[in-house]
Amino acid sequence: MKDKILRLLRNREEFVSGQAICSELGVSRTAVWKTMNQLKEEGYEIKSVNNRGYKLVESPDLVTAAEVKSLLNAKWIGEEVVYFDTTNSTNTQAKRLAEEGAANGTVVVADCQEGGKGRRGKSWCTPKGEGISFSIILRPNILAVNASMLTLVAGLAVAKAVKEVLDVDCKIKWPNDIVSRGKKLTGILTELSTEVDYVNYVVVGIGINGNNLEFPEEIASIATSLAVEKRERIHRADVIAACLESFEVLYERFLETEDLSGMIEEYNELLINREKEVRVISSKEEIIATAKGINERGELIILDQNQKEQMICSGEVSVRGLYGYT
Ligand code: BTN
Repeated sequence: MKDKILRLLRNREEFVSGQAICSELGVSRTAVWKTMNQLKEEGYEIKSVNNRGYKLVESPDLVTAAEVKSLLNAKWIGEEVVYFDTTNSTNTQAKRLAEEGAANGTVVVADCQEGGKGRRGKSWCTPKGEGISFSIILRPNILAVNASMLTLVAGLAVAKAVKEVLDVDCKIKWPNDIVSRGKKLTGILTELSTEVDYVNYVVVGIGINGNNLEFPEEIASIATSLAVEKRERIHRADVIAACLESFEVLYERFLETEDLSGMIEEYNELLINREKEVRVISSKEEIIATAKGINERGELIILDQNQKEQMICSGEVSVRGLYGYT
């Protein structure tokens, strides 16, 4: 009900009468009054004037289920949003909920993660009131081998959403880091539950540096945030809603072919290393090559120094620019 009231207030520039809210949402006057008081306590600035009703003047930078849902214009994603003030990791919570039967499209959001997980066993830091951390539960009917492409779908979705909602120009560092001015803005961790060849569920976890102005020492030189890029605080729920909307569109496109053929051009246009020399590091060797772009399976096409084309998979190698992180 909170999300519905917030959405209603947001859609009207003028005062909305208590009566209009009651009849539109089919709830009592007392219920509306109580919800308005709760929202005010949470930090929403709501003007209430006798005989005119209510007007939303300002929203706090919350990432609660009500705030995210009230901003979201999607078909099925985020119909259910589960919010934690503080949790270990939204991916861990999403996996638990998925095991308990949570529906396709359920989103888990946290204001603070105390045990945020990164790729390759690293940690991911989500300070309270600053970071943007959410995980999407998906139940796709796809082959297990194709599920890893969802990480690239999510990367593209975030890059597009950030451009659209904040006009921040991002690039993608294959396979799925989003960078701005060469520094990392976003990380994505996809986890799977499979049975032989059947995908039980997928959890796509997205971490974006939102209002962070400082970073842990070990990443300080390679990390940035939306607030740093915009030079002002941003409203985190707007970013989450935009990412979910953008992901929904691209995910449906992915499902049509079970590969990335419907988004290769868009992805390659944002690829930071495209037509540049990169260092390809595997457990066996390190080679210098030119990155050409991804193919429909999300593999990076590279041209080695003998002008031989090779396809590289994200699980096996890491790619660095010649002069640093990107
Ligand atoms: C990376 O190493 O770049 C991936 C970082 C992924 C972090 C996100 S934050 C939301 C979700 N919950 C987690 O514990 N990790 C992912």
